[in-house]
Amino acid sequence: MGENKADEYGSIPVPNVQYIAMNELKEIPGRYIQPKAETDSVSMDESREIPVIDLQELLHGQGGDQMASFHTACKDWGFFQLINHGVTEGVIEKIKGDAEEFFRLPLEKKKAYAQQAESVQGYGQAFVVSEEQKLDWCDIFALRTFPIDERLAKFWPTSPPSFSETIERYVEELQELNLRLLELIAKNLGVDADKLTNTCKNGTQWFRINYYPPCPQADKVIGISPHSDPSLITLLIQVNEVEGLQIKKNGTWVSVKPLPGAFIVNIGDAIEMLSNGVYKSIEHRGTINPERERLSIAVFQLPTSGILVGPFEEVLGNSGAKYKTVDYDEYMKSYFGTKLEGKRALDLVKLGEI
Ligand code: OGA
Ligand code: NI
Repeated sequence: MGENKADEYGSIPVPNVQYIAMNELKEIPGRYIQPKAETDSVSMDESREIPVIDLQELLHGQGGDQMASFHTACKDWGFFQLINHGVTEGVIEKIKGDAEEFFRLPLEKKKAYAQQAESVQGYGQAFVVSEEQKLDWCDIFALRTFPIDERLAKFWPTSPPSFSETIERYVEELQELNLRLLELIAKNLGVDADKLTNTCKNGTQWFRINYYPPCPQADKVIGISPHSDPSLITLLIQVNEVEGLQIKKNGTWVSVKPLPGAFIVNIGDAIEMLSNGVYKSIEHRGTINPERERLSIAVFQLPTSGILVGPFEEVLGNSGAKYKTVDYDEYMKSYFGTKLEGKRALDLVKLGEI
């Protein structure tokens, strides 16, 4: 396996929330109680639903209406649901089933894939950088799935038996879908498609299952704390019907109601930078259900390790670059480093501090 630069962001090991939820329900450990969780306002306005985009319409539709809706979705929402996306239904069903089965395995079996100090691959929790830090009510299983020659075989699960093969098929299809979306984004931004897709040529892709156990005091904990993704694009599915994803829109949290079979797609920090802020990488978080577990599967397409990321000339307009051009490996370090201070790495790029 090669020198794995993009994977040097270790996480401090912490207890598995799935087992706290099973055993200590009378009292939630203090590290998981997040005072802010209760006081934030959540929009009840049913009309505020994220846009729905049809990939077949984007690719083959007449008149450009769908391309215009796609542009608006990326610009004003940074989030949309993608239907008619062409990813094989059987592959999606299989990954959902295997993900559920994996999390049903006894702790000892899952621990065979436990995260190790130097990396966030495997089974554990993400973003734990300090002993004092508040913790998310969530366990994860993560793999760096691309580039292929940097896969770490020891983290690829053999239980359930089909899991590794299912992951492989799933991430390959999503890699293709990502490229289609990037080509369409380039078209809408007036940038040569190759210029955008080249930013992730032989790039890094992460696969992550988020497992959110139920919590009787669901409003006191957070499944995944507010963040924006460092990716170009993120593709997410919910494994069961339990909802929990919320996005920040004009200062309030808006709940996402996933359409069956759709991907929830979001613009990540890298596209925000490349598009000079024309497209937005929106903050989002995961909430917890009091009675039922929730699982989601996210696939993050990141720029190629070692490249520089900054606004394309074609999108500068009259106002000039609003983001500094940064080495993306440096950006990823700041992304994890600023997490604890509650700062966004993206804001530091705007200020020229990275
Ligand atoms: C993520 C994420 C939200 C969810 O994995 O980055 O934002 O609904 N997940 O699980
Ligand atoms: Ni996210």
